[in-house]
Amino acid sequence: MYVCICNAIRETELRRAALLHAGDADAVYAALGKTPQCGQCLDDAATILIEEREKAAVGLLAPAS
Ligand code: FES
Repeated sequence: MYVCICNAIRETELRRAALLHAGDADAVYAALGKTPQCGQCLDDAATILIEEREKAAVGLLAPAS
C-alpha cells in the first residue's frame, strides 16, 4: 500500500526508513530522496514513523532470553 501517492512511497519502505533515518516525515522523505508535494500523507507518515520506532524501542527493552 502506498502511504504517499505523490512520491510513490510504500508503507513497507517508510517503515524500514523509520529505523534507518532520524527526524520527522519531512526528514525521512528527504533521506529517501523525496519531497512532500500535496502534504496529505504527512500525518499518516508521522504515525507510521512513531509506530515503528516504538516497536523498536520495546524490542530493545525486552529481557534477553
Ligand atoms: S501524498 Fe504524499 S505528498 Fe502528496
